[in-house]
Amino acid sequence: MSFRVAEFYSGIGGMHFALKGAGIDSSVVRAFDINTVANEVYKHNFPGVPVMQRNIEALPMSMFEALRADLWTMSPPCQPYTRQGLQKGSEDPRSKSFLFIIDLLAKLERKPTYLLMENVAGFDKSDTRPILLRQLLRLGYRFEEYVLNPLQLCIPNSRTRYYLLAKLDRPPNDCVNDTDEFPPNFRHSVPGVNLIQPAADADGHVDFERGIWHHDEVRQVKHYMETLSNEDAEPYRLSPKVLEKYDYVMDFITPEDRRTCCFTKGYTHYAEGTGSAVQLTGVVGKDAKTQENTRYFTPREVANLMGFPAEFSFPATTSTRQGYRLLGNSLSVSVVAMLMDYLVRRM
Ligand SMILES: C[S@@+](CC[C@H](N)C(=O)[O-])C[C@H]1O[C@@H](n2cnc3c(N)ncnc32)[C@H](O)[C@@H]1O
Repeated sequence: MSFRVAEFYSGIGGMHFALKGAGIDSSVVRAFDINTVANEVYKHNFPGVPVMQRNIEALPMSMFEALRADLWTMSPPCQPYTRQGLQKGSEDPRSKSFLFIIDLLAKLERKPTYLLMENVAGFDKSDTRPILLRQLLRLGYRFEEYVLNPLQLCIPNSRTRYYLLAKLDRPPNDCVNDTDEFPPNFRHSVPGVNLIQPAADADGHVDFERGIWHHDEVRQVKHYMETLSNEDAEPYRLSPKVLEKYDYVMDFITPEDRRTCCFTKGYTHYAEGTGSAVQLTGVVGKDAKTQENTRYFTPREVANLMGFPAEFSFPATTSTRQGYRLLGNSLSVSVVAMLMDYLVRRM
């Protein structure tokens, strides 16, 4: 069976790569994103897919109906739900397009059988979540919610994210009230998949986000790194000023380590909490960091850690800075591919 897929908030095509990674016989019939730079990257990698560069909420009903898609993938803007942000949730104008999609689902004559949505972990506490879940129940979707991290697949990169999988296989339900609440019910394991889990701390508590992972099972970072000549490494070196000023707030790891922090859109631009840098020789915290023995991960390396396949590339027009921004906004292709496989074949 060949699936028709609509990719909303398509960015650089993380969902499309995951679909390919899961080996699902499918075609993305249309991708939607307002970001011109992201769309250039998308078209460069998937030249055959029409990309709609318009605000989703400004599109006519006929356009959505014409998609006749079996699967809708969605990674709406996360700013309304990030813990660092104001967490205005549904009050934030950036959540408007997703609320529009939630509303639109009820009006669609031919609804997608499958939905896959990705967002920051903060979405689990947002006021958009019950709006989405009530709508899905009303329409006859069965859903499962996950909070997962690529470390669970033994990939040395932390990126805790919320995922919603839904399948339309029930009759509509009119008994859902606008006041119905949904207690947190997030799964950290996926049926049929061997995922590692964080270990308990000394007090026996398991903290999924700050958890202690089984480090020996996770692969070493070096397997995701490029071998760079001195010249090629030059643009990625940390300046003496950054090393002096931000050493204590930055996360440094060595190629032998088995974790990197989540790479965000501010990577290399802001020092704190935007992703790890690498100390190529010596021991972190013991041996001095110099311009020669430290560098940022290249966009290719960040893409590797996020599960983008070797054939993924940026067009020559994308700057390094734009590449980092786009990757930081994207998703763990590895985790989403695993979820797609489950959603379409087993859920
Ligand atoms: C979290 S990113 C999704 C990234 C994508 N999954 C990827 O792999 O790159 C959200 C995307 O939604 C797009 N976006 C935000 N609001 C939009 C709207 N109203 N209509 C269309 N696209 C929108 C942004 O340009 C951004 O690329």
